Amino acid sequence: MKKFIPPARAQEIRYVIREIVLEAEKYEQKTGNKTIRLNIGDPCKYDFSPPRHIIDAYIEALESGKHYYGDSRGEKELREAIVEYEKRKNEVDIDISDVLVTQGAAEAVNTILAVAFENGDELLIPSPTYPPYLTAARFFGVKPLEYRCIEEEGWVPDIDHIRKLVSPKTKAILIINPNNPTGAVYSAKRVKEIIDLAGEYGLYVISDEIYDLMVYDGSGKAPNTASLANDVPVITIYSLSKVYLATGWRIGYMYRHDPQDLLEDLWNAFTRFLMIRLSTNTPAQYAAIAALRGPQTHIRGIIDKLRKRRDLVYRRINEIYGLSAEKPEGTFYIFPRINLGINDNDFCKKLLWSTGVVVPPGYGFGSFGKQHFRIVFLPPEDILNDALDRIEKFVRQLQ
Ligand SMILES: Cc1ncc(COP(=O)(O)O)c(C=O)c1O
Repeated sequence: MKKFIPPARAQEIRYVIREIVLEAEKYEQKTGNKTIRLNIGDPCKYDFSPPRHIIDAYIEALESGKHYYGDSRGEKELREAIVEYEKRKNEVDIDISDVLVTQGAAEAVNTILAVAFENGDELLIPSPTYPPYLTAARFFGVKPLEYRCIEEEGWVPDIDHIRKLVSPKTKAILIINPNNPTGAVYSAKRVKEIIDLAGEYGLYVISDEIYDLMVYDGSGKAPNTASLANDVPVITIYSLSKVYLATGWRIGYMYRHDPQDLLEDLWNAFTRFLMIRLSTNTPAQYAAIAALRGPQTHIRGIIDKLRKRRDLVYRRINEIYGLSAEKPEGTFYIFPRINLGINDNDFCKKLLWSTGVVVPPGYGFGSFGKQHFRIVFLPPEDILNDALDRIEKFVRQLQ
């Protein structure tokens, strides 16, 4: 018998954030040393945990027998809680029929990419970007067009570049605000410019806002695209993973702001698509109700802790000759530039093998990510300082 080979489209799936882990495992096996992993954006791996009252709600859901398959669209009570939450937080007016609950934001992303595009249709995506928007898009036959985010201006989207890329095959513009991997938070003005451009070309906007309350200054919140959009249709993607520190519960959702019902057919197709995966985790949905309806006081605690870590990493990276980084205004990522005559992939591999520090290379975040790497600054200060000491020493040796 012959070996069974996956089709080309499956062979091309790459995810550098997790692939670097394989290299890290090799390093640990070969050297017997432990790595310092600054590659995965999971607060629950460090000193963060979901608020107590939502853990209690999860336990209560289990104890009261919520073990069954839920509604494919999400439990009705959760969708009602989402409608109230979005009204309270973002002043958007939606109905429960505009909401679909998913297995994390990741499933919302996959659903949109799998269902909303003809083969070869184009989606404008920010670059640097969250990698699945590139790789999952290609897998589903969507052509990702990377629009530049301007590093020197704090990584904000270049509106002129977006305009240059639009073609008759373009269907939608994606915004990630606050942005992974750059930590940029776009102003309401910049978001409005993107919405207006979408309106001009008859496109809809997909707005990934899963870090919306992880913002260090100003109102502590990134602008919500849907509430700025008037007639332009917007699909918002949200998740309990980051703001509610529940990455492993796999609860996210998407909703449509669609005053002219232009997305109705897509929405029905998303709903049917979600039926074939049956439903998402039922008890976790009841915990999500408690998260959205209950006290929100934990967010202040997250921000206070993370601001110190952000300031530390930002200061120390910029003190290292040959590295430079824009200050992240949100999220827990920083995206330093490497000015050392070595490419990002070699830098990250050599860094790992000489110091045990694990960071993914910027090329995995898109063309405009090249010559950078991403640091997750979730760990406590002593771990960050240890990692930065090692990075500093490694860079000195490179020169
Ligand atoms: C921008 C962005 N969108 C979506 C996701 C997926 O998140 P989840 O599926 O845990 O909700 C992530 C995860 O890091 C992300 O950074």
